[in-house]
Amino acid sequence: MQSLSVPDRNGESADILVGYDNAVEWLENAAYFGSTVGRYANRISGGRFTLNGIIYELSKNDCPNHLHGGVNGFNKVQWNSKITGEHSVKFTYHSPAGEEGYPGNLKVTVEYSLEKQSLSWKATATSDEATPVNLTNHAYFNLTGDPTAEVLGHSLTIHASKYLPVNEALIPTGEQAEVAGTPFDFTRPKTIGENLGLLNGNSFDHNYILSPATKLRLAARVEEKNSGRIMELFTNQPGMQFFLAATHGRKHTALCLEPQKFPDSPNQPAFPDSILQPGETYEHEILFRFPDPI
Ligand code: BGC
Repeated sequence: MQSLSVPDRNGESADILVGYDNAVEWLENAAYFGSTVGRYANRISGGRFTLNGIIYELSKNDCPNHLHGGVNGFNKVQWNSKITGEHSVKFTYHSPAGEEGYPGNLKVTVEYSLEKQSLSWKATATSDEATPVNLTNHAYFNLTGDPTAEVLGHSLTIHASKYLPVNEALIPTGEQAEVAGTPFDFTRPKTIGENLGLLNGNSFDHNYILSPATKLRLAARVEEKNSGRIMELFTNQPGMQFFLAATHGRKHTALCLEPQKFPDSPNQPAFPDSILQPGETYEHEILFRFPDPI
């Protein structure tokens, strides 16, 4: 996703995605701006997991861990595309067994559909062998429409009463901690900057535990008071990474809200299952909704 124009309260449209100005930078895209991330979004500890008694070694691109599908993740591969409607396009990709170390030939589709006030992102995957699958969209949002402006004044609500604490390499410790009484509490609207000073590392890069669901439900809402722009995010996934990002060398200039399975699930049996079995279909839907500006 390279750009997404949304009107402010005066009807002035601006691009609310942070991106690049030219194709060369988009190809490199080390930050995963707007990418579909897979085969496994987020981190797998030690770049290794055991499945059905076999140890699988993945590429370690976030040493010593595996991040966002590896060196040539789904953000780097060539997808096929097909227009499926007046406002929709479907991308397909066949990931061969062994790619980045994963088992199973995986067939993936991602369809984008634009409606009047929403954008839908729908992913499916099937495999001929059991494999971890965790796809997400990695758009960087700045609702001011100015990619150089800070997002600390954006008001954020995340419908999650728990989150996953992480170690220094950003791997979940396994604890499922209450947000109440901590800087991670966004159960009521709060500016992103409000409790930032209380955080170790001075940034958010954590997975939130959403209420159990198989259907779409509201996970987060963002409001930017100067422009009046609002974004609501719906997903059917169990978790959502909230990542407060530095872009183009400037701190706190974008936020990523990445619905997904929990990070490192293939190594953490207490987390929701992330293994796709042959004969099953992985289905992940994200709906970005843009209500009338306030
Ligand atoms: C991760 C960050 C990472 C960023 C870019 C996010 O999804 O949570 O830790 O730095 O992606 O790779």
